[in-house]
Amino acid sequence: LAEQKLNNIKITITAGPTREAIDPVRYISNHSSGKMGFALAKAAAALGAEVTLISGPVQLATPAGVKRLDVTSAQQMYEAAMAQAVNSDIFIGCAAVADYRVAEVANEKMKKQGDSALELKLVQNPDIIASVAALSHNRPFTVGFAAETQHVLQYAKDKLARKKLDMICANDVSKSDIGFNSDHNAVTLLWQDGEQALAAQPKEQLANAIVQQILARFSSEN
Ligand code: C5P
Repeated sequence: LAEQKLNNIKITITAGPTREAIDPVRYISNHSSGKMGFALAKAAAALGAEVTLISGPVQLATPAGVKRLDVTSAQQMYEAAMAQAVNSDIFIGCAAVADYRVAEVANEKMKKQGDSALELKLVQNPDIIASVAALSHNRPFTVGFAAETQHVLQYAKDKLARKKLDMICANDVSKSDIGFNSDHNAVTLLWQDGEQALAAQPKEQLANAIVQQILARFSSEN
């Protein structure tokens, strides 16, 4: 793809985990490092795209030329994402968004209650990428990720259809040498009428290949 084609393309990427508060000192989260999303942002910016990276709490430096918006909770990520999405050509949801949040966050640090068990009531968070894909106006080309430990391609295909995505990046996270927290990853890209497997390689290199493929699909549909 010609580089000047990317110069007027706006891409929004979500990355990292979200943190769902239990009380002022505790939270529920996951092991996402944010590396894949940050690598995608770096690759897209290097190709000349205007990149906004909406990041959960991660220990990563902002790639050169990328505009970064830091958020903590899924609700905050949802609000930032919906605001950015309508001004984007491409939206890539790479964040490991918590499916649930605590129904009532305690205002004070919770105390241990004798010997009894503690029950936390959880309510569902909004599905960010499905909300972006459901936009009726200014809907961006929407790309999701599916991190699975089994039936990877089947679950990814289901997700592509259910969330009405244009493309999904299927990622087997059952292997400890690739995926979460690793510097390497392997994925299969799936879209309505095609797919492409990308072999295990450093996340930075893989990110380039993914961005190239996203741009090729985006261009063929726009
Ligand atoms: O359903 P699942 O969480 O496996 O779907 C993963 C995809 O959906 C990823 O692209 C992730 O960023 C996105 N997602 C989201 N909002 C949620 C849950 C997942 O955007 N609440």
